[in-house]
Amino acid sequence: MTNQKKFLRYDRNQLACDGVPFADLAGEFGTPLFVYSADAIRGNYRRIRQAFAAAKPLIAYSVKANSNGAIIRVLRDEGSGFDVVSANEMDRVLMTGVSADRMIFAGVGKTADEMRRALKAGVKEFNVESPAEAVRLDEVARSMKTTAPVAIRINPEVDARTHRHITTGKKENKFGMSLEAARGLIAAIGGMSGLRLDGLHAHIGSQILSDKPHEEAVGVVDAFIGDLTAKGHRLRTLNFGGGFGIAYRDDEKPLDLKGVAKIVCGLVKKHGLELILEPGRSIIAPAGVFLTKVEYIKRGKAHPFVIVDGAMTEMIRPALYDAYHEIRPVAKPSAKSAREKADVVGPVCESGDYLALQREMAVPQSGDLLAVLDAGAYCSAMSSNYNSRPRPAEVLVDGGAAHLIRKRETRRDLYRHEVVPSHLE
Ligand SMILES: Cc1ncc(COP(=O)(O)O)c(C=O)c1O
Repeated sequence: MTNQKKFLRYDRNQLACDGVPFADLAGEFGTPLFVYSADAIRGNYRRIRQAFAAAKPLIAYSVKANSNGAIIRVLRDEGSGFDVVSANEMDRVLMTGVSADRMIFAGVGKTADEMRRALKAGVKEFNVESPAEAVRLDEVARSMKTTAPVAIRINPEVDARTHRHITTGKKENKFGMSLEAARGLIAAIGGMSGLRLDGLHAHIGSQILSDKPHEEAVGVVDAFIGDLTAKGHRLRTLNFGGGFGIAYRDDEKPLDLKGVAKIVCGLVKKHGLELILEPGRSIIAPAGVFLTKVEYIKRGKAHPFVIVDGAMTEMIRPALYDAYHEIRPVAKPSAKSAREKADVVGPVCESGDYLALQREMAVPQSGDLLAVLDAGAYCSAMSSNYNSRPRPAEVLVDGGAAHLIRKRETRRDLYRHEVVPSHLE
């Protein structure tokens, strides 16, 4: 996957998003701020559609990556489907007018209530992750006098060679079923009148940059489908998940998406299956920027600290996954500016609260703005109120104009749901 940052350009030494200067956005909406380019989202979606064109897949954008309704609407208008992991995510998509038959309901812990809601809405498929879940789904569907379309999530036991927290296809991961368990469940589904076996699901992890794990997974799935077909099972769909990695670092080799597409398209063609994909990060991560303002420069004994107003509460990825995000100054420093290695840190009371460690940069000054790149996925969606920090505003730049798509939380929002017992009033 190429890292598409073309929407970011310096114009008269000022960094802009599709021509809208970040300094203007900070002035109008404040910082910290998430900024997304609608054109970049469209471009990333179209690149996947094009790569997999031979199979005409249902591209089900993985809503967990970023669930803002405006982003869902941009993708709805591209013809995208949606992968949801809770009934509330499903509702977010339904609210945009997308019909449930373009939605895949995934997740290891679906409640009976969520199953009811998804069956009522009419989702295209449930990705079933365990025999116990299948039993519950069967009961719920029968109680509603309906049939649930299911794809069995298999665990191909492939090492995705990504961060351990985003590996999902190894035998020690909680996701999916071993091939033996899946075989047993598929045989049992014949006797479950509330379920209809539609297909298989295999997602091996996120941020996969090498085509090898995908290739290995295709091999496992191919053999498994062959085995099922020989036993007389007829499948209609193959959901190959998401996980297409992006180049967060300039020197990272992007995923050969076309190469992966070729083998996956070949697989579904061979078995006559409809292809479903669930990409999240590759669509939205490169299209988002986290804009933050420098509060202080602190000259530590070892190196300078650039203390900014953004924090791990909005960008948990560095602390959680040791993730690297490129940081660009909004006002381009002169080529002569001295460069130093600095830690870019937030105000949260945790040593893990950093956006970058030992990053070589022209050390900025208090009041300067920094743009943290590739911040569209798993950033805002994972944000928290830790240290009583209100979640930031979010802006979508579309057609040369900035649109507020999420208001900044207020102080009141922080205690809105707290209840004071009367004896403590
Ligand atoms: C089942 C499933 N599908 C899709 C995704 C989306 O992955 P990504 O955002 O890496 O494309 C994930 C995330 O790990 C997932 O677990």
